[in-house]
Amino acid sequence: MVGRVLVLVTILILAQTGSLNSHQESGEWSCDSKADIHIEAEFKPGRITLDGQVDDWKEIDGSAFSLLPALDPHSDKAYYGGKMTLKASHDGKEIFFMLQVEGDYTYSEGYNDKAASVAIMFQIGENASYHRMGGCEEGRDTCTNKTCKGHEVDLMHFSIGKAIPGRLYGGNPVDNSEGNGGDRFGHLVDLYGWNPHCRYLDGIGPSANDSSAQNDWKGTWWHSSLTHHSGFVKDDSPYSSSNQSGAYYFEFSRPLRTMDRLQQDAQFTIGRASKMSVAFWYPVDGKPWHGSGHFSISCHWIPLNILPDGSELTDVPKRSPWDTATAFSLLFSVVAFGISIFVGHRVSRTKNIAFTQMDNL
Ligand SMILES: *[C@@H]1O[C@H](CO)[C@@H](O)[C@H](O)[C@H]1NC(C)=O
Ligand SMILES: *[C@@H]1O[C@H](CO)[C@@H](O)[C@H](O)[C@H]1NC(C)=O
Ligand SMILES: *[C@@H]1O[C@H](CO)[C@@H](O)[C@H](O)[C@H]1NC(C)=O
Ligand SMILES: *[C@@H]1O[C@H](CO)[C@@H](O)[C@H](O)[C@H]1NC(C)=O
Repeated sequence: MVGRVLVLVTILILAQTGSLNSHQESGEWSCDSKADIHIEAEFKPGRITLDGQVDDWKEIDGSAFSLLPALDPHSDKAYYGGKMTLKASHDGKEIFFMLQVEGDYTYSEGYNDKAASVAIMFQIGENASYHRMGGCEEGRDTCTNKTCKGHEVDLMHFSIGKAIPGRLYGGNPVDNSEGNGGDRFGHLVDLYGWNPHCRYLDGIGPSANDSSAQNDWKGTWWHSSLTHHSGFVKDDSPYSSSNQSGAYYFEFSRPLRTMDRLQQDAQFTIGRASKMSVAFWYPVDGKPWHGSGHFSISCHWIPLNILPDGSELTDVPKRSPWDTATAFSLLFSVVAFGISIFVGHRVSRTKNIAFTQMDNL
């Protein structure tokens, strides 16, 4: 009996080790990031309001990531403000993201490159790599949805240079009526791409435009140095307070599924994992940033697990068939089998014992 349990425990340990090994990255793009980290989007309906305030995220677990230069990921060049915290949740229809990062308040109205900016990237095509944003080998003149098929990535980019803190930006009736992923009010745009040189607003293409696309994102931002307020408008000039220390908060939402028909949006499925990463631009030392001068939370895709209702936090990552539940139920059935032999033995020895006395065992 003890021997059998030991064998089972050994099998369990071997199965667990096997699943950890299979998480490791391989390939030409190497960096020091942890390979086993992942984001959990738990089912938390009715919690999150997209208002830039993050108190409603308190009970949702997140992960903190160092921000390293995307093109040169070395820890001695990390963003001086520290780590970015990333949280996700969903309500069965929409998925929500919260990004929080320390940074002095800096804002020049109308100048995106003198303010903080964030982007989220998701894998769409099965052959889209993290490195080089999809990794299609074609140049700007030759990339098309045929030559780069399978390398599609989905992008959301929010530059706050025109966006009033606490107000909602992204998909709006004016831009959506033109059938593309633009946002003329706050520059929270919905894009897709095949590599860094082949990026387009949803609906816009290198050879043809398709006016069926939409900007499916909504989002807002806030800085902790701002005093809470019934609602800023442009004339309040919330931009003037300068260089105060604190943290930036970004909140975003998008439907789990969109009406995209062109492979320009990632589609999320409850109970499945997607792949994502986050980029951050900041005018370090007051110097305007440029497009490729961004920091990134990782140098490979990070799994994003969309958890079903009632799911345990760690259940979604794929395990070998010997998962914990199976092994434990086997362990219990062996123990139960042992007990039944023992009981049978006792019952057969003490003939007067009634069945009701089982409870006393
Ligand atoms: C991805 O690449 C593999 C191997 O090159 C290929 O067989 C497959 O068709 C590609 N997938 C897509 C969607 O293009
Ligand atoms: C697609 O739309 C963009 C932006 O509106 C425009 O600049 C471009 O010329 C259009 N392309 C075609 C092929 O119509
Ligand atoms: C490529 O895009 C064009 C224009 O949107 C569309 O008509 C065509 O069906 C697409 N082709 C593929 C292979 O997705
Ligand atoms: C804020 O910091 C920037 C860059 O360091 C500097 O140019 C600017 O003068 C500062 N503003 C104030 C009001 O201190």
